[in-house]
Amino acid sequence: MQITDTAALVTGGASGLGGATAKALAAKGARVFALDLGGSIEKAETVEGVTYVEADVTDPEQVQAAVDTAAGSGVPLRTVVNCAGIGPSARILSKKGRHDLALYAKVIQINLIGTFNVLTIAAEAIAATEPLADDARGVIINTASIAAFDGQIGQVAYSSSKGGVVGLTLPAARDLSTSGIRVLTIAPGIVDTPMLATVSDEFRATLSAGIPFPKRLARPDEYAQLALSLIDHDYLNGEVVRMDGALRMAPR
Ligand SMILES: NC(=O)c1ccc[n+]([C@@H]2O[C@H](COP(=O)([O-])OP(=O)(O)OC[C@H]3O[C@@H](n4cnc5c(N)ncnc54)[C@H](O)[C@@H]3O)[C@@H](O)[C@H]2O)c1
Repeated sequence: MQITDTAALVTGGASGLGGATAKALAAKGARVFALDLGGSIEKAETVEGVTYVEADVTDPEQVQAAVDTAAGSGVPLRTVVNCAGIGPSARILSKKGRHDLALYAKVIQINLIGTFNVLTIAAEAIAATEPLADDARGVIINTASIAAFDGQIGQVAYSSSKGGVVGLTLPAARDLSTSGIRVLTIAPGIVDTPMLATVSDEFRATLSAGIPFPKRLARPDEYAQLALSLIDHDYLNGEVVRMDGALRMAPR
């Protein structure tokens, strides 16, 4: 699908994978709306072609307003890339006691329900656009993680949320097939983004050493490159694509 002169909504678009994707889409001629929390938008760089819209992905009214902004921008909304997410870690049982149920619920709320909230509201807007060839109207790309498949110790909440994103990919693609909307999910390995900012250089080197090839962390622009490839390829639909340098994570 061509993205020139179309609108794109990128959640988590002020940082990391979303920030890189917003920039790459704008460089290809899309009118990009980067949805994020106010605190992240304040720290975000100014990028030509990218408009920041403040919203919480878990809030239907705020997401509706952001989608309305993108859909009403004068060019059709055809692309959504869901990157908003959090990645706290906690074990089921630890010295601090049982896993906090509220933390578990929060991770599911943002990573899974937030993704679904944006997907449904944006799908309604994309479904209202004029169809292209093959009755295609748009593409929605979600972000899972390889933790959906090989979650590590302390990732029970995160892996549950990302497993949910993997699980919704095929039925969402099937549901939205009658509207000409493709749904795909990227499952990244370890990407060097602000989410990893607290990791020491030593631990970063250990992480890199465990990756078969290339022996380094992925870069956010490599995620953006994959997102653009998936958008471009009209026959890819309902699939989860790992981007991990052949990494299969060990228990810890
Ligand atoms: N970095 C990695 O190694 C890695 C690996 C696999 C998957 N992922 C996933 O990729 C996505 C992006 O991660 P990142 O590394 O770019 O992290 P990041 O922290 O750099 O960016 C995440 C963005 O999401 C935003 N966000 C969080 N909660 C939100 C909410 N409720 N509403 C709106 N925006 C919200 C944050 O403000 C932030 O700007 C996440 O879903 C993450 O789980 C990251």
